Amino acid sequence: MNKGFIDVVVGLQWGDEGKGKNIDELLSSKLYFGVARFHGGANAGHTLKLGSITFIGHIVPSGCLHKNIELYIGNGVVVDVMSLVSEMRQLKDVGFNITKRLYISDRAKLVSYLHPFLDQADEHRRNKLGTKVGSTSRGIGPAYSDVRARRALLIGDVQLPDFEQKEKILSEFHMNLLNLYRDKYGFEIPEEKIKEARAKWIEAVKELKKLQICDVSSLVLKRLSEGKNILAEGAQGLMLDMDFGDYPNVTSSNVLPVNVCLGLGVPHTYIRDIYGVMKAYTTKVGGGNFPSRIKDEALEKAFQKAGNEFGATTGRPRMCGWIDMFALRRAISLSGVNKIFINKADICLSDKIKVVTGYKSGTKVFKEFPLYLDQVTDVVTEEIPGWGNKNFGISDKKKVSKELASYLDYIKSKLSDLDVKIVSVGTGPDRNHFFNWDK
Ligand code: IMP
Repeated sequence: MNKGFIDVVVGLQWGDEGKGKNIDELLSSKLYFGVARFHGGANAGHTLKLGSITFIGHIVPSGCLHKNIELYIGNGVVVDVMSLVSEMRQLKDVGFNITKRLYISDRAKLVSYLHPFLDQADEHRRNKLGTKVGSTSRGIGPAYSDVRARRALLIGDVQLPDFEQKEKILSEFHMNLLNLYRDKYGFEIPEEKIKEARAKWIEAVKELKKLQICDVSSLVLKRLSEGKNILAEGAQGLMLDMDFGDYPNVTSSNVLPVNVCLGLGVPHTYIRDIYGVMKAYTTKVGGGNFPSRIKDEALEKAFQKAGNEFGATTGRPRMCGWIDMFALRRAISLSGVNKIFINKADICLSDKIKVVTGYKSGTKVFKEFPLYLDQVTDVVTEEIPGWGNKNFGISDKKKVSKELASYLDYIKSKLSDLDVKIVSVGTGPDRNHFFNWDK
């Protein structure tokens, strides 16, 4: 019989839904013993707030600002060791030394110092073809390519005597690739920059060796057998899933919650609730079509400003769009989400808001989600009343404006066949800026 359980939190849109804040909210229930990352790398960015402390994490799991929570980095993660060491240092500086409660899987993979350059080089190639993905340039694609091609460095390798040799072989291979990008596509990285990156990486690897590298799958299974519950933290969002996102404008890992089993090393029987996180509107960074994008430039800018829609990893302004129920229904169906968090519901900047309910190509209305979003030329929309700035900071369901209440009912009615609950609605950046809805 299973003793503990795993709940999963995933993004339902294009990432940046505010998952970190919801994880914080879930942790305050004291139900969980640990938080685990199971895919992705330092391309993710979660902003965590605690009193006067604001911490932007990329690779350290959310939950780092809760002193009794264990943190796990699963085998499915590609670890940017420089980010890891720097985030740990920043956390220590504000009184959160996580060294003794962070466990890194020996089967997780190392992002090398040349992976970000390879990422930039391939983006340069794609740019020439007009097919830029808008990668965060954190080396995620090249790192996962090495994993699939069976030449990656595992985190556990750093403890083995042949690590230097393995690293040399891989770096040589990467340099050959970079030379190819130079000769064929005119992309060149100055030698000095490579030397500098290598020196920093070697230092960070030395720090990594001092950390708790272990079989995280066994550890998590042990915790579960002790009756302890774990929260699995998704990165990015369903529209960026390698298989079900808008390929090739996707990230290089599977965002879907079933990937918890593979990326953490646990059987599916432990999985209990799947929380899906969305914003009351939609944002996107990077390449590819964005069907629900707001066409009024000034209104889009106003959303960027009001929602502080600038990338936590890259600082890029995020494109803003109306809520896309067509994409959301698919994300929820694919992921088996049963509970929903809606964030940034305080932000509403017009009297009427649009809801995208379908996609069109010319006069044809899509019945199924299209193979490529580029095929979408127009959208089907409905219009409902907006609520202005009436709901900022509300934490009591009874105080919610009638327009926002009817918006939440509207979303539920659109999802009525999917058996989901809207558990909580965010109304501002602080920990207490939310109200429970369907509980
Ligand atoms: P990569 O995973 O960094 O190569 O980026 C691939 C695509 O995913 C790009 O369009 C990025 O903008 C997007 N992306 C990756 N991570 C995030 C994230 O955490 N939030 C939003 N978009 C992301």
